[in-house]
Amino acid sequence: MAFIQYETEGQVAILTIDRPKALNALDSAVLKELDAAIDAIDLNEVRCLIITGAGEKSFVAGADIGEMSKLTKAEGEAFGKTGNDVFRKIETLPIPVIAAVNGFALGGGNELAMSCDIRICSENAVFGQPETGLGITPGFGGTQRLARLVSPGYAKQLLYTAANIKAHEALRIGLVNAVYPLEELLPAAKKMAAQIAFNAPIAVRACKKAVNEGLELGMDDAIALEEKIFGDCFETEDQVAGMAFFLKKDKQKGEKHAPYQNK
Ligand code: CAA
Repeated sequence: MAFIQYETEGQVAILTIDRPKALNALDSAVLKELDAAIDAIDLNEVRCLIITGAGEKSFVAGADIGEMSKLTKAEGEAFGKTGNDVFRKIETLPIPVIAAVNGFALGGGNELAMSCDIRICSENAVFGQPETGLGITPGFGGTQRLARLVSPGYAKQLLYTAANIKAHEALRIGLVNAVYPLEELLPAAKKMAAQIAFNAPIAVRACKKAVNEGLELGMDDAIALEEKIFGDCFETEDQVAGMAFFLKKDKQKGEKHAPYQNK
C-alpha cells in the first residue's frame, strides 16, 4: 500500500496514514487503501487497533481539498459516502479502535478520530471542522458524531465558526481522553491497547457492541439490549475461564485474571 502502513505488536495493530506531501489528507486513493487495510485485519489475532498519522505534524489534515474542488453535486455526495462507509466500518469494527492524534485533526481528520472508540492526543494536536470556511459542510460524519461526543452547543460553535481548538481545549470538552507530549503518545496508546488486549476478548467486543448500539436506543430498549449481551457472555470460554480463575484457591499471587485465548 502506498499510503497506509500496518504493523502488529502482539495482539495490537497499528495503522498509520502516511501521505506526507499533503499532511496525510484523505483523497479517494487513501480512503480506498484505508478501507482495504481495515478489511484485511485478522480479527482472530488482533484485539485492539490504533490509528495514527505519519510524521510529527499531522494526524490527518482533512479530506483532500484539491480533489474536492472539482467535484459535481453527485460526485460530492458519492465522495461523502465513500468516507462515511469507511469510517462507519471503523466505528463498527468488532474490536476497540484508539485514535492517537499526533497533530492536525481537521475536517475529515477529526471525523476519522471521532469514528474511533477512544481518542488520545499529543500536546501539538489541533482539532476543528474548517468546512464552512470552504463552502461545504463536514461530509464524513462530522455534523453527526461531533454533536454526540461533545455538547450540541459546542459542536455547533465549532461547525459554524470553523475555529480550531488546541489539545487541552479538546480535553476540556471531552473530545479526547488524555493529552501527552508527542513522544509519549504512541507508547501511551500501545499501553492502553495492551491493557484492552489483556482482557477477555469476547467481553470487550460485547462492551463495544452494547455501548454503540445502546446509544441509538431509548433507555428501556438499551437496558434490554444489555441484558441480552450480558446473557450471551455466559457459557463462553472466556466467562468460564475468567470466573473459574477468580474462584481458584491456589491461584498465583499477582496474577490479575485468566489468560484469555484468541477467538
Ligand atoms: N487537502 C489537500 N492538501 C492539503 C490539505 C488538505 N486537506 N491539508 C494540507 N494540504 C497540503 C497543502 O496544500 C500543502 O501542500 P503543498 O506543499 O503542495 O503546497 C501541504 O499539505 C502542507 O500544508 P501547508 O503548507 O498548508 O502547511 P501549514 O503548516 O502552513 O498549514 C494546515 C497546515 C493548517 C493544516 C493547512 O494545511 C490547512 O489548513 N489545511 C487544510 C485543512 C482543512 O481545511 N481540512 C478540512 C478539509 S474539508 C473536509 O475534510 C471535508 C470533509 O468533512 C470530508
